[in-house]
Amino acid sequence: MLKKIDHIGFAVHSIARTRVLYEEALGLVCERVEEVAAQKVRTAFFRLGETRIELLEPTAPDSPIARFLEKRGEGIHHIGYQSDDLDRDLARARDQGCTLINPEPVTGAGGRRIAFLHPRSTHGVLTELCEAGRAEQPPDPEDQP
Ligand code: CO
Repeated sequence: MLKKIDHIGFAVHSIARTRVLYEEALGLVCERVEEVAAQKVRTAFFRLGETRIELLEPTAPDSPIARFLEKRGEGIHHIGYQSDDLDRDLARARDQGCTLINPEPVTGAGGRRIAFLHPRSTHGVLTELCEAGRAEQPPDPEDQP
């Protein structure tokens, strides 16, 4: 099941230049900046209550974010829904006719399993399904001392 809006992703040319807005003008706190080599992006997450703002900056000219910026400029890139069962939620979307960019989950920022649905099958909204982050998952009994 989808539980909440996990984050909203914004495509930007430069995290360094953009974070000033979120930190100084809006007063948010940057949790972490992380490069996701497989996606050719650098990401920065700003917590905002139950959700987060994700800034995405390309790290290579052939990055999907670089192509997006070329075509559309800076702005809202995707919405991320948190799923408590990614495989099942992804299979349901596929079975209902959604075009999957990732037929199998891939590793996103924070080492989380994620998968994207193509905007052509989601009425123009690039849609990410992602598993809960480590801190948000119920404690694993095997982690107890
Ligand atoms: Co995302």
